[in-house]
Amino acid sequence: MELSGVLSLLLGVCVSCLLLVASWRKVLARRNLPPGPTPLPFVGNILQLDTKALAKSILKFRDVYGPVFTLQLGSERAVVLCGYAAVKEALVDHGKEFGGRGNMATAARITKGFGSPFDPTFLLGSAVSNVICSIIFGSRFDYQDQEFLTLLNCVNENFRLLSSRWGQLYNAFPTLLAALPGRHNAMFHNMDTLKRFVSERAKRHQDSLDPSCPNSYIDCFLLQMDQEKQNPDTEFTTENLVMTTLELFFAGTETVSTTLRYGILLLMKYPEIKEKVHEEIDRVIGRSRLPAIEDRSRMPYTDAVIHEVHRFADVLPMSLPHVTTQDIQFRGYAIPKGTTVIPLLTSVLQDTSQFSNPDDFDPGHFLDGNGHFQKNSAFMPFSAGKRVCLGESLARMEVFLFLTAILQRFTLQPLGDPGALDTSPVESGVGNIPHPYELRLLPR
Ligand code: HEM
Repeated sequence: MELSGVLSLLLGVCVSCLLLVASWRKVLARRNLPPGPTPLPFVGNILQLDTKALAKSILKFRDVYGPVFTLQLGSERAVVLCGYAAVKEALVDHGKEFGGRGNMATAARITKGFGSPFDPTFLLGSAVSNVICSIIFGSRFDYQDQEFLTLLNCVNENFRLLSSRWGQLYNAFPTLLAALPGRHNAMFHNMDTLKRFVSERAKRHQDSLDPSCPNSYIDCFLLQMDQEKQNPDTEFTTENLVMTTLELFFAGTETVSTTLRYGILLLMKYPEIKEKVHEEIDRVIGRSRLPAIEDRSRMPYTDAVIHEVHRFADVLPMSLPHVTTQDIQFRGYAIPKGTTVIPLLTSVLQDTSQFSNPDDFDPGHFLDGNGHFQKNSAFMPFSAGKRVCLGESLARMEVFLFLTAILQRFTLQPLGDPGALDTSPVESGVGNIPHPYELRLLPR
């Protein structure tokens, strides 16, 4: 035999041994599993099954091993449940533990994971954040970019922590909490990460700035800094550049993506409302082009639904704190300059004098008797007056475009009974945060 033949033979033997060992290790790992027929190396129990009557041939093992047994199907191991009692006990009594969707290699190859249930938090966060990133940095990030995902995680975690008891405690006793260990410290760690990132970006923009062609908020700020460099009182400083960019990044990401997460949750819970939105999208926009903001005025029902999502989600229920700029007589009281004021937006969005049934998710709050869109002056999720959210129109455009684009292409499918979806906030402090959930997006 030639040398190459011997080598091939040796290689074959080595690979076979490795596979055999791997196969045996799996067999050994079965020690704590339900009993079952001994598997052969590589093929497991496949040769003991009838491929023309698979289920029936599997059922035969019940006579030997009882209603719950283990089979090795090639490289995949499976626990088989037989009969009403075992199936009911697993799928109903332990519905949560047995509720995941198993893999089928054929289906997995065809679908490549599309349609699988997923938590939309980071996908929505990435899409929304890229809008504000295009404005402040002049560029977008890839959805797989690890640095971007780390930043989004910081923003997401901070909004949650700010809204948790830790955030509330810190705001009430800042000096005390600053000296104590606890989860609140993660907020500052996250902020440092975000600040470092923004500072590095600002530096990069400074190094490559073409004054004849500014293409982002940072570029414009840098040009203004240059123009005011002789002014000792200028507000256009590097610190302000970093802080304002950070504020826009933070405010422009989490509020909108939280609203979208709430919107999707509410539409899953109320399928009849979702169907009407689908119908309006199909009628007004169709399926051959993406939604545009001009479509909104011709879509009163969808517009009302989105207003109701903002109202119900109530993302910043206490607004952000205000402070009095001077002494003021208000409703017979004397409020001194420098007093903190909390405009409780949630009480406006739930005001029974303005909304007929404020506890319910009801697009009728923004529709007249003829189905036309109807404004309501108590619609204040973005606050009101001089300090009104500066991103209001951007945020409202984003929520409209993202929601309609998703519903144009997909049906939202919850994992369980829609009626059982919990729409109360999981954290309610500075922000109202919806419970985490998974869904399937089925192509329409
Ligand atoms: C659904 C989305 C949003 C909601 C519900 C929301 C709500 C609010 C509210 C209630 C305030 C406090 C206003 C006040 O003090 O009276 C605020 C402030 C602010 N928002 Fe938004 N916002 C949203 C999206 C955005 C976006 C997309 C941006 C970025 C462009 C943004 C940037 C800001 C900034 C920078 C402030 C602080 C303004 C200041 O200090 O005067 N917001 N927002």
